[in-house]
Amino acid sequence: MTLLSISNLNVSITQPDGSVAHILHDVSVGVDRGEVLGIVGESGSGKTMLLRSLMKILPPRAVATMDALTFDDRDALATFERERLPLSMVFQDPLTSFNPLRKIGGHLTEVVKRFQAVSGGAARVRAAAALDQVGIPHPKRVLGQYPHELSGGMRQRVMIAMALLSEPEVLVADEPTTALDATIQAQILSLLSSLRESRGLTIIVVTHDLGVVAALCDRVVVMKDGRVVETGPVEQVFADPQNAYTKSLLASIPHVDGLETELSAGSDAFSAGSDEFSAGSDEEVRDV
Ligand SMILES: Nc1ncnc2c1ncn2[C@@H]1O[C@H](COP(=O)(O)OP(=O)(O)OP(=O)(O)O)[C@@H](O)[C@H]1O
Ligand SMILES: [Mg+2]
Repeated sequence: MTLLSISNLNVSITQPDGSVAHILHDVSVGVDRGEVLGIVGESGSGKTMLLRSLMKILPPRAVATMDALTFDDRDALATFERERLPLSMVFQDPLTSFNPLRKIGGHLTEVVKRFQAVSGGAARVRAAAALDQVGIPHPKRVLGQYPHELSGGMRQRVMIAMALLSEPEVLVADEPTTALDATIQAQILSLLSSLRESRGLTIIVVTHDLGVVAALCDRVVVMKDGRVVETGPVEQVFADPQNAYTKSLLASIPHVDGLETELSAGSDAFSAGSDEFSAGSDEEVRDV
């Protein structure tokens, strides 16, 4: 069942010189409830703009139009002007998304208080529980730390915890693992996958890594020059890409002779990552 769908999204931005840049052209995407949708495409193809359109955080002077927007089988277009969709976003580099002078506890309790009328103490309990849910050991201690005191993987977990505190129906993640090294990447992917299982969370993830798509996603959207050039179930698109650009993307993966090699390599790496999950987080605690 389609949870969120957007039809013929067009985004243009008026440049300082008055000219208009067309960023997205008739982009249509849909995601089913509980599904992980991957968005891939070269740099500048409009992946982030698509997410920012859904989140209503487009840059100034950007104008978005669409033919239809539905959420949970209801028309959401009429209300989209004044109401956000129940989406939360995780960014590539959590360090720049945090106020460096504010402790983790301050960031998290602010979100809690935005959604619930609770005391400071209750908000901290809720914040610690959220950190625990994303696999952060010693959550109370972490609440008292500053963003720069945490490792990159831990910061990304905090970012995910923060996103989840607003109880979104869809988690939107823009290159959530790009800034992390391979082992930590696998752990964050494993976390996203387990959140999808345990909470029935729907996830839209932007990545340039086709291994991530193979390991995590059910369906994939391929973008180029602000357009969707191909979309479909991951296995189908990987096995039988229709678009020349998709074919070239898949051909650029090293050591891949065909779909089976890629998909099994992807999932093996992925489960190895999950096995190391707890060991890895212990290790990370030592360096925070
Ligand atoms: N504030 C802005 N003003 C004008 N053009 C912009 C602005 N932000 C992005 N763009 C342009 O919009 C296009 C799409 O950018 P976007 O950031 O969505 O690409 P992307 O697919 O996310 O790329 P990357 O993989 O590098 O993150 C690019 O051509 C970019 O130059
Ligand atoms: Mg981007």
